[in-house]
Amino acid sequence: MSGVITLIKKDHATLEAVFKKLESAEPDEIPNLLRQVNELLVPHSKAEEEVVYPAIKATVPDEQDDVDDGLEEHHHVEATLKQLLASDPGAPGVDGLIAAMIGEVRHHVEEEEEEILPAFAKAASNEQLSELGSQFTEAKDRALAQLGE
Ligand SMILES: [Fe+2]
Ligand SMILES: [Fe+2]
Repeated sequence: MSGVITLIKKDHATLEAVFKKLESAEPDEIPNLLRQVNELLVPHSKAEEEVVYPAIKATVPDEQDDVDDGLEEHHHVEATLKQLLASDPGAPGVDGLIAAMIGEVRHHVEEEEEEILPAFAKAASNEQLSELGSQFTEAKDRALAQLGE
């Protein structure tokens, strides 16, 4: 039940709920919502990179390119998010940058949920998925702790 794929999808849904708020936010609500995105997205991505992506590459060689693309997408989104966190929320261009970031993450999430993770689920054992779930949660907790440093 707490397999890694379930955990990843749960994070995606939580993040999507914040995106919905961000899309209709007033400028004074934006910094707090961006901080929420940061705290959800960065540890999630780091834990995928540390624990999940290497396991997928080792288990499903056909998905190696998609996983490498996914990694690039993480880095690009994180750079945009960093830029947004340092911006005045009322500044021109901020709305467009937020929309671009959300669009990129949605595309990335779709690729994970529709392609990469189903291919992995087919190839991996339930034991492996469950063990990775624990490792994913631990890696996320570590990354969240580092976020505040
Ligand atoms: Fe993800
Ligand atoms: Fe990802």
